[in-house]
Amino acid sequence: MTSLLITATNRGIGLELARQAIGRGWLVYGSARTREQAELTGRELGSDRFVPLVFDVTDHTAVANAAAEIDAPIDVLINNAGIIGPDRQATLDMDFAGFAKTLEINTLAPLAVAQAFLPHLKRSENGRIVTISSQMSWMGYAKSDRIAYRASKAAVNKVMQGLSTDLKPDNITVALVDPGWVRTDMGGPEADNDPVDVAGGILDLAGGLTQSQTGRFFKWNGEERDF
Ligand SMILES: NC(=O)c1ccc[n+]([C@@H]2O[C@H](COP(=O)([O-])OP(=O)(O)OC[C@H]3O[C@@H](n4cnc5c(N)ncnc54)[C@H](OP(=O)(O)O)[C@@H]3O)[C@@H](O)[C@H]2O)c1
Repeated sequence: MTSLLITATNRGIGLELARQAIGRGWLVYGSARTREQAELTGRELGSDRFVPLVFDVTDHTAVANAAAEIDAPIDVLINNAGIIGPDRQATLDMDFAGFAKTLEINTLAPLAVAQAFLPHLKRSENGRIVTISSQMSWMGYAKSDRIAYRASKAAVNKVMQGLSTDLKPDNITVALVDPGWVRTDMGGPEADNDPVDVAGGILDLAGGLTQSQTGRFFKWNGEERDF
């Protein structure tokens, strides 16, 4: 049975990823920041193929403890947890503490989680790491709104590209996904994409990823895109 670790399955894209992965007959280890949220998610999903984990992605000790709880291979890690960043995030008016927090969650944590669960991914015959990035990372335009968020996602692209190079000897595939603009708490009600469609697309992509695709950036519908 394909097994996945998905961070932040208590709401948004992560919850929909967990729901659909379970629907495909896969086993999901899904994290939330509190035991209460994890149990609530477990009840909502109502499946014994959902295993709740409790950690804040920035708490490296808690992540390591969660990894130590699992003695089984993990086929796919989906780094989904993320924040949009502080209210004040213009280049000329920056909440620097908020910017640092954004980097901690969106950029550093995906690498830390990948490191913590690397032993499990190595035990899979086809280990894959999929990190949810954003179209707002794109270097092809010079938009400046929400620059902390943009920078955190551009940086995680670079980190994951580097990780893909370093994990080639282990045959672990590393890819980035742009989910578009999605109707969640983060995206708001006016966003273009339904989380159901986006989660389905991301799972199709994750399910079929091979080493020949490592280090690449994809749209949620599977098309390759520019960094
Ligand atoms: N929605 C969009 O339009 C859009 C577009 C591009 C990319 N994305 C990316 O897609 C991913 C999911 O976004 P979403 O739209 O589903 O957002 P969301 O509805 O706001 O959900 C964010 C999730 O991340 C969790 N989270 C935040 N900080 C965390 C931390 N320190 N440790 C653990 N979990 C944490 C939240 O947990 P709590 O409930 O505990 O806060 C929540 O489960 C993010 O990486 C986001 O940047 C979204």
